[in-house]
Amino acid sequence: MDAIRIRGTKPLSGKITVSGAKNAALPILCATLLSEGESRLRNVPGLRDIKTTSALLGFLGRDTQVNTPDVIVSAETTPVRPMAPYELVRQMRASVLVLGPLVARYGKAKVSLPGGCAIGARPVDQHLRGLEALGAKIAVEHGYILAEAGRLRGAEIVFDIPTVGGTENLMMAAALAKGRSTLVNCAREPEIEELGRVLNKMGAQVEGAGTAVIHIHGKDELEPFDHAVIADRIEAGTFMAAVGATGGDVLLEHAPLDDLEPVVMKLRQAGIEIEREGQAVRVRRQGALRPVDVTTAPHPGFPTDMQAQFMALMTRAEGRSVLTETIFENRFMHVPELQRMGARIETRNNTAFVEGVDTLSGASVMATDLRASASLVIAGLISGGETIVRRVYHLDRGYEAIEKKLAAVGADIERIDLEGP
Ligand code: EPZ
Repeated sequence: MDAIRIRGTKPLSGKITVSGAKNAALPILCATLLSEGESRLRNVPGLRDIKTTSALLGFLGRDTQVNTPDVIVSAETTPVRPMAPYELVRQMRASVLVLGPLVARYGKAKVSLPGGCAIGARPVDQHLRGLEALGAKIAVEHGYILAEAGRLRGAEIVFDIPTVGGTENLMMAAALAKGRSTLVNCAREPEIEELGRVLNKMGAQVEGAGTAVIHIHGKDELEPFDHAVIADRIEAGTFMAAVGATGGDVLLEHAPLDDLEPVVMKLRQAGIEIEREGQAVRVRRQGALRPVDVTTAPHPGFPTDMQAQFMALMTRAEGRSVLTETIFENRFMHVPELQRMGARIETRNNTAFVEGVDTLSGASVMATDLRASASLVIAGLISGGETIVRRVYHLDRGYEAIEKKLAAVGADIERIDLEGP
């Protein structure tokens, strides 16, 4: 099984190109179901989750050619089979994003409940309540969501909490509903704004995507699109934390600085210099690494998807930092692995207290989820000796060739084939 071997501690220097955003490409791929024509996506990252989504679209009846950074979803030739099976959905929770488009366009859908994952229960109650408000009849039987609807009709929907997937599912459903919809207490992530741009390219009328209130005037049908996906702010933030940890100097091409404000502010407080240089962003650290407290929050707060990476950085800060995770109930699985590398971390409920240490020592560690894996790679870069990160299939879900990108800026890192799990 693939593993990644890292020998620390080398400062990173050179240039890294940030890939397209996974969490923008996934909903946009699902949005292709809203129209019958051929759609083309550009700047799509070469990730496992992209392959999984294209396999799901194929299963539904929409052939997809994945030649990243291009992906083409072919025109509908045979009627789509609006059924997303457990075998596919369990590989990637974001598969639930086909639910809104299928109900809106085909009037029915059978989609496996995504179930929980390592970081939390991940319910979809907000998705289902929103679809019911639009007129769908929803039942949950034998682990499947069964949805039936005539033509969806516009409605006013207030989310109990800002949910990224819930907002995306209901934007796509409302785009084909009859009449107007107002979605309130929406998630405001940049990937939501991006989905709004794509839906409008398809002929939808979406206003306010990326803010807490989104107005949608539903259409009878939508057109295919050709769209280049925005850059991945979490990948960029991960590299910024890696450079800050190693004390390097790296130019990040295509880093979406404006989408990273909360992360950049916290990294700067930690002593990392982050400056725009033309279309790129220069990241470097020469002085001491200062401890900084972080509490995750929905955008525009500090993203939960950067918590693990920031914690790895703080293991070497000169002092104590406090990290509080408010979005997911179990997103500290990187902690025991970092402790095995010599990090001094105590957790109490959803708060981690990190005492910076002078050195970490390389160890064999286990990746448990996507961002925890990135945290272990960063820790490996700043550990003496050798670190082996196992189960890197987690990493491959969200990072395109991360070991190649890091090796190109001086890290001693390579992918190896290890026996056993
Ligand atoms: C998206 O997941 C991202 N995934 C996640 O990124 C990210 O961590 C998360 O948003 C939060 O920013 C994709 O975009 C594919 P949510 P999503 O619905 O949509 C609760 C990564 O690392 N909730 O915003 O599933 C939920 O339990 C991944 O790239 C409900 O209670 O997240 C959580 O506590 C991991 N009921 C909170 O809301 C619902 O119906 C936020 O979840 C839906 C969500």
